Amino acid sequence: MTHDTSSKRALYDQLVGQVEAVLEGLDDDVAVMATVCAVLYAALPEASFVGFYRVVAPDRLLVGPYQGPLACLEIRFGRGVCGTAAQLRATQVVPDVEAFPGHIACDPKARSEIVIPVDDADGELIAVLDLDSPQPGAFDELDRDGLERVAAAIRRHLPG
Ligand code: SME
Repeated sequence: MTHDTSSKRALYDQLVGQVEAVLEGLDDDVAVMATVCAVLYAALPEASFVGFYRVVAPDRLLVGPYQGPLACLEIRFGRGVCGTAAQLRATQVVPDVEAFPGHIACDPKARSEIVIPVDDADGELIAVLDLDSPQPGAFDELDRDGLERVAAAIRRHLPG
């Protein structure tokens, strides 16, 4: 995003701490995901969409808690940025969504995107966390690192 390196690191340090504080004692998947969406959406104004897609079958993602414009409901593993992140179990940083083969254009204004796999407390893939921006190249390696730290922080609140 547009912050310099040290302020972005500081922002994510603060966000990880905030997430850990607000989730204290919580162990319900939907409540955790809804709360994380609200925290991230408020803190990251470059993101027009912050949401989870939940793994509901071995190769099927279904929209979960999110903030932003109306999202696609269902995504198969291997399809689009979310389905690729789920299939590979690897974060996808996409500076230009039009250059990503098979990108699913839920929001025609989205220009860049980042998708992070989310595991539950048993290490099973339970969801992916998707952020979109109308700005090209809005997400970089610092966002990857910061959002992967958020995903790691919420894992113990997702009993599976
Ligand atoms: N663009 C995503 C689909 C989800 S929406 O961005 C909310 C994708 O290609 O997987």
